[in-house]
Amino acid sequence: MKVFREGAPLQVFLAKKYSDQNIGFVPTMGALHKGHLSLIEQAKENNEIVVVSIFVNPTQFNNQDDLKKYPRTLNDDIDALKGVQCDIVYVPNVKEIYPDEETSKNFNFSGLEKVMEGKYRPGHFNGVGTVVKRLFDIVKPTNAYFGEKDYQQLLIIKKMVSDLKIPVKIISCPIFREKSGLAMSSRNERLSAQYREKAVVIYKSLLKIKAGFNNKTLDELYEEINSKFKKLPFVELEYFIIADAETLKKAKTINTKKKYRAFIAAYIEGVRLIDNIAL
Ligand code: PAJ
Repeated sequence: MKVFREGAPLQVFLAKKYSDQNIGFVPTMGALHKGHLSLIEQAKENNEIVVVSIFVNPTQFNNQDDLKKYPRTLNDDIDALKGVQCDIVYVPNVKEIYPDEETSKNFNFSGLEKVMEGKYRPGHFNGVGTVVKRLFDIVKPTNAYFGEKDYQQLLIIKKMVSDLKIPVKIISCPIFREKSGLAMSSRNERLSAQYREKAVVIYKSLLKIKAGFNNKTLDELYEEINSKFKKLPFVELEYFIIADAETLKKAKTINTKKKYRAFIAAYIEGVRLIDNIAL
């Protein structure tokens, strides 16, 4: 596995050897877990070469404490990537990604950025769009892989790629879960063993919503889930929303021709966890 710290030699390497082949790209912020590795496995199936980037992007953190606490485990990450026979890892520094100013560009995501993660993390998606666009410019991938774990991010990247006519295909990958059902996340490492077990309540609630979706009203579902969370002292629900899976607008009535998803964000032991499910 080759490790590149700079984009220029990476571009030379890819242009020399892989100019007319499929380049698969998996952007990450490191602290890799099996969820990330599942994206890499999928990329390996359809591309001649797979590039993974590891970059903790400062502009997508609206909370400086969250940025400071974000786990950085580069040596373990490199071992994990070698373990899945990844071809290339690109680990740029901040100056390489933000040569001038460490700021985000402003994107028009047509309202997709205003709800849920965008509402509670102002500026987050401009930061994500900025870094992903910059990484696409450097790596120039054929296919790029994003997890449904961050479903809103996936839609926003699809929108950016289509608006800016970036020649890359965005592939969505299913949520990879721990045995308990808890969605894998780098943030799970910050939970104590006891609460990591209890955190499965988020996924269990999503399953409950899915089970009730066809025979209960939206009001009944909101009432059931909101009151369930109110009774749990160890978890602070930030949002629970049933939304149109394309526009992310909160569902008011159900149109059988449309697709919907349920989304939850909650704090446990001060750790912010998100999850979602197709209904
Ligand atoms: P990060 O949180 O490291 O996630 C990298 C990719 O892995 C994202 O596409 C995310 O959706 C996916 N992923 C994380 N956990 C997953 C799981 N349990 N199952 C399936 N996929 C999972 O998302 C980011 O980094 C950043 O915002 C980034 C796109 C790299 C831009 O900085």
